[in-house]
Amino acid sequence: MILHRAIAIDGPAASGKSTLARILSKRLGLIMVNSGAMYRAVTWKVLQLGVDANDRLAVVEALKGMELQCGVDGLSSTVAVDGVDPGDELRSEEVNANVSAVAAVPEVRECLVSLQRDYLKLGDVVMEGRDIGTVVFPETPYKIYMDADPTVREARREEVGEVDSVAARDHADSRRETAPLKIAEGAAILDTSGHTIETGVAAALEILVSQGFPI
Ligand code: DC
Repeated sequence: MILHRAIAIDGPAASGKSTLARILSKRLGLIMVNSGAMYRAVTWKVLQLGVDANDRLAVVEALKGMELQCGVDGLSSTVAVDGVDPGDELRSEEVNANVSAVAAVPEVRECLVSLQRDYLKLGDVVMEGRDIGTVVFPETPYKIYMDADPTVREARREEVGEVDSVAARDHADSRRETAPLKIAEGAAILDTSGHTIETGVAAALEILVSQGFPI
């Protein structure tokens, strides 16, 4: 079995995870996996089917009928449901409002965690989400927990014109029973509130070197 490396990046919404993961992917040649997109894709399909995202049994039934295709395009993860890539709809207001409910369903998490682990068969990965260091790759030594002031995070979402109550999502994502957002054992905390992208990346690289990542 080939053992590849995984960098786990967790943190609340708009803490800078995607930006950091994208840059690390380019600089270090790693496959970048946006695990949130997978939860968003399931949510998108649930809504398409007219299923109530808060009805756990109905969500599980819908999940059983879905075919999820997770792959890579270059160094970035891709996701499609029943052959359809939802594209920008993954970040719609409706998906933002319902994704935490769908992500709290244990059967959804079990299915997606397994697909997330499969990425390691393809190569070294940098994966961002909420439970990557705690559940998906608890054994990896390379873990960063990103954070930023709530006001800074709300402002970042407004900057890109997204209607997204990050406070409500964070509350739900941190309080759920299965795999809540929390700091993984061994994770280094990186608060990006006062950082620019460049200084944040430099701080992340320093952390990874201190964790023994070969850079
Ligand atoms: O990273 P994001 O904001 O696109 O994630 C969308 C939602 O998906 C987030 O509110 C909670 C859920 N999620 C999760 O529960 N576990 C992950 N590893 C990634 C995302």
